Amino acid sequence: MSRIPQHFIDDLMSRVDIIEVVGTRVPLKKAGREYKACCPFHDEKTPSFTVSPTKQFYHCFGCGAHGTALGFMMDHDHLGFVEAVEELARQVGVEVPKEAGGQDRRPDDDLYGLMEKTAAFYRDELKTSEEAIAYLKSRGLDGETAGRFGIGYAPRQWDSLIKHVGSTESFLRRLADCGLIIEREQGGWYDRFRDRIMFPIRDARGRVIAFGGRVLGTGEPKYLNSPETRLFHKGRELYGLFEARQALRDIPRLLVVEGYMDVVGLSQAGIRWSVATLGTATTADHLHRLFRLTETVVFCFDGDRAGRQAAWRALENALPGLSEGRQIRFLFLPEGEDPDSLVRKEGADRFQDRVDGALPLSDYLLEHLQSQVDMSALDGRARLAELARPLLARIPDGIYKDLLVGRLAKLVGVDPDRLTGIVAGDRPPDRGFRPAARGAPRPGNARSSLIRQAIALVLQHPSSASAATIPANLAEVTLKGLPLLCELLEICRETPDIGTAGLIERWRDKPEYSHLLALVANELLISEETAGVVLGDTLRQIVVREGPERRVEALLTKARSGGLDAAEKEELRDLLSSRVSPTGTGSQDG
Ligand code: GTP
Ligand code: MN
Repeated sequence: MSRIPQHFIDDLMSRVDIIEVVGTRVPLKKAGREYKACCPFHDEKTPSFTVSPTKQFYHCFGCGAHGTALGFMMDHDHLGFVEAVEELARQVGVEVPKEAGGQDRRPDDDLYGLMEKTAAFYRDELKTSEEAIAYLKSRGLDGETAGRFGIGYAPRQWDSLIKHVGSTESFLRRLADCGLIIEREQGGWYDRFRDRIMFPIRDARGRVIAFGGRVLGTGEPKYLNSPETRLFHKGRELYGLFEARQALRDIPRLLVVEGYMDVVGLSQAGIRWSVATLGTATTADHLHRLFRLTETVVFCFDGDRAGRQAAWRALENALPGLSEGRQIRFLFLPEGEDPDSLVRKEGADRFQDRVDGALPLSDYLLEHLQSQVDMSALDGRARLAELARPLLARIPDGIYKDLLVGRLAKLVGVDPDRLTGIVAGDRPPDRGFRPAARGAPRPGNARSSLIRQAIALVLQHPSSASAATIPANLAEVTLKGLPLLCELLEICRETPDIGTAGLIERWRDKPEYSHLLALVANELLISEETAGVVLGDTLRQIVVREGPERRVEALLTKARSGGLDAAEKEELRDLLSSRVSPTGTGSQDG
């Protein structure tokens, strides 16, 4: 076993570019999205060696050689594993960490501990600061809610946190890594957050990864946020998500608001299902996270111009993630109000009524487009179709899209089929996802081929793991390959930046390695944008079929030991016959 820590390999695989690695050794030619060459591993005249920049993977259709950049270095340059790692690390300019004793301890662990210690310090400071308590009271915040969100106070002094944690070289370095202190030009350090109400930002597991700090009263900037650190990536995190999950077992819907105080104020009013983006637009990444927890996401915006602009951007980002069973709505508040002020003014019930009446995405989309054209004129309606076209093209194929196209066709006054054709013209012909269509399905193998598909999807589109809705009871399914699938999903959740090559490298020393390589080499014909939806459907299929499979097993066991009565025989017959039929493919319309 190597002593090189896994996280270093992950990181290395995400930095290395296989095109560069292979390209310096084999003359590559661009062919579509991939690169081609004559295979360096066997003798050939026409190129069948392909390298995929998206998968960071090479594959030869002639001799079957395939692998990652790391594998290529080992096989092509005849290097050992450690040598190949060192060579790649040298090329991208990073140092291979040397580990004594082989304990794989991630340096991040210490940072999480330090963040927690800091949060505790701020919480304690709040208890003794009359001014901070008075400010929160003036905003109507109660102690219980403040406690649930771990709200604290950073004292006014320049170095209270440094004093509290410690000012040795190693403490200062870690505090700086956490974005909690800032270096002075003339040397020395000072606390980033001073005299501010502190909102800890927690990740999905509840670990504190950043802070937002608000001035007491007026002052600039009103909010100060942690910088991007190793723990904190603004575009991915949502304030309040952890707290919402703590408060509710099932989350029928999530409300996306703009501010920390909106989430906190709504929660105090009893609406414990809101989250805030951290001063950024809603990203596709955010949406993927939300739809793993709920089926309905309601965006809440100010009714002013800036709010409307933000709403439209959110809509555009949401389109690729739309599918059956996912609802997105838009709630516009009266000008001058935000959720915190409004819920205080009119109470939780009235506010919930507003949420219930929020505009479905399709209504918002059509209304917004119609407001930009003159619908009474013929060319106005043509322009409407023109405006809608690029938007519709971003929605994955399926019932949702069909319905929307149908409504648009009615508005424009053309035949829906024609409109569908026009819209489709905007996209490269999608050859579609045809899982396991070859050969007659044999009893019992339908689900294992679903598992294979799911594994291939996660491997080839690791981001699909965060885009997909993962059924809660997936892990309970008893089927070969399922533990492997769950492990892959878990790794993608833990390491969202991991790519295909990084995933594959995790299995280098395990028996499934060659099997996984083969799954990556097999072209799936599915686009990155729809991979998450398809994966979600595939996982659902796996789970849905679990119940009947167990019943079949039970009945078969009983048949062997004692025999079945007439009704049970009938049931078994039914179950077996439905098992043979190739029901529900992984298609997103399924
Ligand atoms: P309160 O005034 O405390 O009620 O805050 P708010 O949430 O109503 O504030 P606002 O609508 O002004 O801002 C919404 C969100 O934008 C905040 O929660 C912050 O995340 C962010 N934000 C606001 N002001 C600033 C700022 O000055 N700097 C930064 N970086 N972010 C800000
Ligand atoms: Mn506010």
